[in-house]
Amino acid sequence: MNTVSPILVREETLDPSYLPTRLVRRDIELELLRRRYRESLAKGLPFHLLLTGGVGSGKTALVRRLASDLERGGRLGGFPVKAAYVNCWRRASDRTVMLDLLRMVQVSLPDRGYSLSEMLDVFEQGIRKNPSHLLVLLDEASSLVRQETKLVYLLSRSREVELGSISLVLVASEDLFPYLDPASRSSFGVTHRLSLAPYDRAALTDILESRAELALRPGSIDREVLDQIARIAAPNGDARFALEVLSGAAHAAEEAGADSVGAEHVRRAKGSLLPTVSETQLESLSTNELGVLLALSRTLKRRGASTTSQKLRANHTALLEELGADPMSRTTFWRTLKELERDGLVVLEMGSSGESNNVSMDELPASLLTTLLEERVGRGRSRKA
Ligand SMILES: Nc1ncnc2c1ncn2[C@@H]1O[C@H](COP(=O)(O)OP(=O)(O)OP(=O)(O)O)[C@@H](O)[C@H]1O
Ligand SMILES: [Mg+2]
Repeated sequence: MNTVSPILVREETLDPSYLPTRLVRRDIELELLRRRYRESLAKGLPFHLLLTGGVGSGKTALVRRLASDLERGGRLGGFPVKAAYVNCWRRASDRTVMLDLLRMVQVSLPDRGYSLSEMLDVFEQGIRKNPSHLLVLLDEASSLVRQETKLVYLLSRSREVELGSISLVLVASEDLFPYLDPASRSSFGVTHRLSLAPYDRAALTDILESRAELALRPGSIDREVLDQIARIAAPNGDARFALEVLSGAAHAAEEAGADSVGAEHVRRAKGSLLPTVSETQLESLSTNELGVLLALSRTLKRRGASTTSQKLRANHTALLEELGADPMSRTTFWRTLKELERDGLVVLEMGSSGESNNVSMDELPASLLTTLLEERVGRGRSRKA
């Protein structure tokens, strides 16, 4: 009977649709935007914004958090703030976006027979029924804007609603400014554009920690393991991928009946999310590389997230002895390790002593690598013999 307590205690808080109350590492951006909106709306003026940033840089989370905070912040210039969020990814035409917006101000129009400006008139009537500052969030706005949208222009100009205002937030992973028509560009001057830098490893670790605190049983994951996940996601600065690995690793740990999430579970999760090493790639590796990888996978199986190059070399020497192979010189060992690093199979980092290096590998679960590599090295040996 398995008596290990669950690790994922609030799994729904890792779901992409969950909006955390606090966005760590985006406090400055959020505060800046909150202030700009509050100042402008308090004067009865709309504020338009173009928000860009790479995949998983927190754009959607940031604008949803901003909208929710403004909605709950009370009246500005006499009117409440109301947000209308549209994901334009699959609704990349002015009309379909407009129909969504109409629904949000509780008016419905048949899908045909109305021009865009007529629809906009009806939309403004809808707002007048419930006077407010409307914050229109158009997420994934790339294809909409690239299709020479008129909606962006019309929404950014329809400021005289008599009661309240309409502010526009465009969100995209690429800079949309060059695609805007000259008239719309004037609404998106420099203070109306914000580009989010990709998260670095330290930021990703903090984000993972804050989300693990929500979703996982206290004490079920170490900061070291969170850092391991952050290192995997850091090349793209993608928080979504980092959270997917966290969720996958927590599931893997539960399935294994473990008490906490370990390095091995992270490797397993990453392997299933992004199988970067194919068997074809493994076939193309030299016997030297295979040997070092096998030694590394065995070392990591026992040691956790990373090991030192000295320990790896000692285990590698032992492995060669075990296989009855010739010992490898220090230079060849290093060259092989560097080749593996170049191929993206291992990560080398200078250790604190300056002399020793930390070696880690996140590409595949150690157990799978061991099986594959033992097969290969074993086969190579019997072929040679
Ligand atoms: N600063 C943060 N603190 C906590 N969670 C965050 C933070 N930034 C992003 N996240 C989480 O990471 C995931 C990805 O963020 P989000 O969806 O906002 O990225 P995005 O920039 O919109 O990506 P895409 O370009 O793919 O749409 C979400 O689950 C979000 O809640
Ligand atoms: Mg997004």
